[in-house]
This record gives sequence, C-alpha cells and structure tokens, in this order.
Amino acid sequence: MKKFSIVIAGGGSTYTPGIVMMLLDNLDRFPIKTLKLYDNDEERQAALGKALDIVLKEKAPDIEFSYTTDPEEAFTNVDFCFAHIRTGKYKMRELDEKIPLKHGVVGQETCGPGGIAYGLRSIGDIIELIDIMEKYSPDCWMLNYSNPAAIVAEACRILRPNSRVLNICDMPVGTLRRMSQIIGKTPEDLDVRYFGLNHFGWWTSVKDKEGHEYLPEIRDYVSKHGYLTQIEVDTQHMDQSWQETHKKAKDLLAVEPRFLPNTYLKYYLYPDYVVKVEGSDPDYTRANEVMDGREKEVFSAAKTIVEKGTSEGSEFSIGSHATFIVDLARAIAFNTHERMVMIVENNGAIANFDDNAVVEVPCIVSSDGPEPLSQGNIPEFERALMYQQVTVEKLAVQAYIEGSYQKLWQALILSKTIPSAKVAKEILDDLIEANKEYWPELT
Ligand code: NAD
Ligand code: G6P
Ligand code: MN
Repeated sequence: MKKFSIVIAGGGSTYTPGIVMMLLDNLDRFPIKTLKLYDNDEERQAALGKALDIVLKEKAPDIEFSYTTDPEEAFTNVDFCFAHIRTGKYKMRELDEKIPLKHGVVGQETCGPGGIAYGLRSIGDIIELIDIMEKYSPDCWMLNYSNPAAIVAEACRILRPNSRVLNICDMPVGTLRRMSQIIGKTPEDLDVRYFGLNHFGWWTSVKDKEGHEYLPEIRDYVSKHGYLTQIEVDTQHMDQSWQETHKKAKDLLAVEPRFLPNTYLKYYLYPDYVVKVEGSDPDYTRANEVMDGREKEVFSAAKTIVEKGTSEGSEFSIGSHATFIVDLARAIAFNTHERMVMIVENNGAIANFDDNAVVEVPCIVSSDGPEPLSQGNIPEFERALMYQQVTVEKLAVQAYIEGSYQKLWQALILSKTIPSAKVAKEILDDLIEANKEYWPELT
C-alpha cells in the first residue's frame, strides 16, 4: 500500500494529539510516510511538537516526523493537509462569545454574531493556507474542519472555486454515534439521509445496510431524552454544557417531529432560552470552559511527556470522533466511494434550494472528491429557515470581500439570533473594535 505524507495545519491545536493518536491507530488502513505539524504560533507548536516527537519515536519510528512554523518546509511534498486553525485563538473566541452576550444575544463559536466575527477572521488565513499548499504541493488535498465551516466553505467557493478543499464537520458523525448507541448499532452499520447547512440541518432517514429504517425508534428516544445516551464512549462533547445541548434536542424535535435535528439548531430556535435559562454566564463562557479544561489537559499532558522523556504512563488519548478524517482521506486516496455528510455547493442536491448555496448533505467521496446525493424537495419551514441563514453566510463573505459595513450589518440583522437592526448595529460596532487586528477595514 502507498504511504502518504501529511501536514496538520494548526499543529498547536488542542485536537492535534488526538488526531495523531488516531492516525497511529489506523496505520493499517492509512499508511503514513511523513507527518508534519505546522502552526504560526511557535510556542504552541513546540509544546505539542516536542511531546509528539517522543510519542512517534516510541510508537511509529518509521514515520518521518517534524514540526515547524515555516510554510515552505511544512507544505513541500505532502499529499494531504488536515487543517484546523483558529485565527485569533481562544482569546478571540472568548470575545466572540462575550460581546453578543453583553447585548443579550447568543454568544457562540460558530452561530450568530460570534460565528460571523470568527468567519471574518478565518477567511483570510484559510485562503492563504490554500495558496501556500498549492504553491508547494499542487496535487495536495486539504481536509478542512476550521470553523466557522459554513462561512469558510462559502468563501472557498467564491475565492478558490477550483482548489482541492474538502469542508467537513464532526457533528453529523458525533450525533450518528449517539444515534447508533440508542439502537444498539455502530455508525458503520448505518447510512443516513440528511439536509441542511453546516450546524443547521436534519436527518430524514437512518437505515442499516439491510434497509431497515430506525428513524421512528430514534425519534421516540430523542423525544424523551434528546441525544443523551446511557453509555458514553465519546472523547468530546462531554462537558456539562454539551450535556445540556444533547438534552435540548428533545425540544428541537418538538418543532419538527418528522426529522432528527442537528443540536446546533438550538441557537436559532431557542436563543432566549440559551441566553437566559441555560445559564450563559457573560463572565464565563464555553471558551473559558475549554481553556480551563481541554487546553490545560492537552498542554499539561504534553509537558509531562517532555519532562519524563517518555509517553509511557501519560499518554495522549485517541480522538475517537476523528476517525472520519481517515475515512475521508482514504476515500480520496483509495477511491473508496465512502458515503459521508459533507459541506458542498448544492447544485441540485436539495431540489428546491439554490444551486449556488453551500449546504450539508450526504455525498459519495471518490478520488475526484465529493458527489452530493439527491435529497429531493425539503419542506417550506426548513427551507425558509435555511434560506435566511445561508443569506447571512453569503452576506458575511461578500462583506469581507467588498469591505462593506452595510452588508455585514445586514448579515447580522438577518441572523435569527438577533432581535433588531439596532441591536445588530451595537454588536457590530463592538465586534469591529475587538477585531481591528484581523478584519478588513469596513466602510
Ligand atoms: P486551538 O486554538 O487549540 O488551535 C488552533 C491552532 O491554530 C492554534 O495553535 C493557532 O496558533 C493555530 N493557528 C491560527 N492561525 C493559524 C494560521 N494562519 N496558520 C497556522 N496555524 C494557525 O483550537 P481548537 O479548539 O483546537 O480548534 C481548532 C479548529 O478546529 C477550530 O477552528 C475549531 O473551530 C475547529 N473544529 C472544527 C470541528 C468541525 O466540526 N468542523 C470540530 C472541532 C474543532
Ligand atoms: C462540535 C462542532 C465543531 C465545534 C466543536 C466545539 O464538534 O462540530 O464545529 O468546533 O463542537 O467544541 P468545543 O468543545 O471547542 O466547544
Ligand atoms: Mn462542526
């Protein structure tokens, strides 16, 4: 079997060790020749790089491992770039969450004003990464899960339409894992039908390979417990705030009892609940929870490994959710025709939705990339919600490209999370001030 060369961009990410451990666990399915980490933050990169160097020497000495902040070194001679960067890091995520909350509006990493703010930071860096990749390894594919994926994918569609970039989210995968637990199956046993936008969609079918439909059974469970499951095998989405989210799916199902909801719909359908009842503390948001939790754990594990000079006894854990990354890379590398939910241009996949909208639907992935599967016509209610949200995403990208204050204000006004044009303007002006270093000038 051919061996592949990979660069992980955002090598200093809290997810990097989990992904590397997952890759090591899958070497029989996806053999690796070279593994490089690339980050533009030298300190973060070195902290994880040094520890992973020890891990690799112990567990897979044949793999050529290195870490760098030099783009040429990172992107020369690679087949795949796994990209998970966060422009502005957690310091800016914290502001994305806290600024809207100050105005009584949902403060979230990818939804509402916080997601729009993060989008306007991410676009430039992702486009730059694509250009670097194409300069040094023109045949390389980028598997991108940098957020906010909907806005990033729309920007790629407009600014780099011919680039080999695949945009994907782990939420459909993670939720399918929960669904499979509910019915006593594994995700590999199941094929789904799904339509929507990223962090904004519904499952319309969950079948096993014999064609048995499990949707009614799962719906029955979700109507009582949401996606909270008895046995937890996940390595992510476990903190208390995530448990609230899994539980809230029950109320999302009540809105549309025919389909199974993506948990992120809670920010659009119950924004008042999220702000007032769920306990969004304007002084301590998810960014704080992650900085005090996952970030500390990952970086202190790395420190211990480096101090001890061995990973024995203080190993990084495998990011089990991340096996979809290997499945996707294999689909491209070995033309497996894997069926996966991906973020792609609609082009008729949802029959009664705009061709040029970026949507999230099941695709067959081969060496040529994803081919969307037809999901037919969708109901009026979902279509209207999706049209409103996709327009938010399109206006945000246009605002970035044109440097338009007006369009960004309109994007915020259209977001279902914001009550009025006045509040939208107040939030926008605060976000502009906070993002001075990152956003284009808006006039
Ligand atoms: P993190 O802040 O720990 O890691 C991001 C890293 O990217 C940092 O080390 C930072 O220095 C680096 N970085 C920033 N700009 C860069 C650039 N231009 N070039 C190279 N490196 C750069 O964040 P995290 O919580 O580990 O998440 C990483 C990313 O993955 C985020 O965008 C997050 O939203 C995304 N994510 C997406 C999904 C999905 O479903 N698509 C799932 C999980 C995480
Ligand atoms: C899910 C979403 C990602 C998002 C992540 C946030 O996995 O699909 O897009 O980045 O949750 O998780 P966190 O633990 O950082 O809040
Ligand atoms: Mn996601």
